[in-house]
Amino acid sequence: MTPAERRAALDAIAAEVRACTRCRLHAGRTQAVPGEGHPDTEAVFVGEGPGMHEDRQGRPFVGRAGDLLVRLLATIGWRREEVFITNIVKCRPPDNRDPEPDEIAACYPYLRRQLEVLDPALIVTLGRHSLGRFIPGARIGQTHGTLHPVDPATGARSAMVYAMYHPAAALRAPDVERQSYDDAAGIPTALLEARRRRNAGGPTTESLAAAPLDSLPADSALDAPTLF
Ligand code: URA
Ligand code: SF4
Repeated sequence: MTPAERRAALDAIAAEVRACTRCRLHAGRTQAVPGEGHPDTEAVFVGEGPGMHEDRQGRPFVGRAGDLLVRLLATIGWRREEVFITNIVKCRPPDNRDPEPDEIAACYPYLRRQLEVLDPALIVTLGRHSLGRFIPGARIGQTHGTLHPVDPATGARSAMVYAMYHPAAALRAPDVERQSYDDAAGIPTALLEARRRRNAGGPTTESLAAAPLDSLPADSALDAPTLF
């Protein structure tokens, strides 16, 4: 796919999302939030669902949680325009309740298609609902800051997933916020490792165990990768 074709494919998915009535969340939305970012990026960030500000503006992570996400990205020299940012459900759950399993299932085909188009090397999950979609059964408290192979059935053909806490959880608890900065510092190494495995032929879920980042060679962290 050329960059222009990728952009057009993402725009087409976004148009479908904005008109979608596949689950009950469409009834309460002001605007659906398809997601946004660079069509040629290697890194996709997946949150939970739109909040009040996102619902009003139709854009992901534009409230306080988004401000923290931007600060976390800045610590590794990345800008939000260089990644792709989206959510597990594209419409705001009422009163910011958790998305229900049937809503997540109804909405997932959009994220699958976005991942098919973007073909990222690295997926960063933000929070447990996003994590659960990529590593079923994983617990956020044990999984944050670690890198795992992604099942191609998710839509991402050859990607690794790196788990982080949700920025909104970090805003509620200083220890989670500190941990989030530590985890963000691991993203460059995670991307380097994801690139390395892709170039070696791509991960298979069978053959690759989860890789705790502190087991990686120290020199892989020296050269923080830029996305563009
Ligand atoms: N929280 C999320 O999970 N997603 C957003 O887009 C904003 C806040
Ligand atoms: Fe459609 Fe997803 Fe919105 Fe449900 S949350 S109405 S599936 S776009």
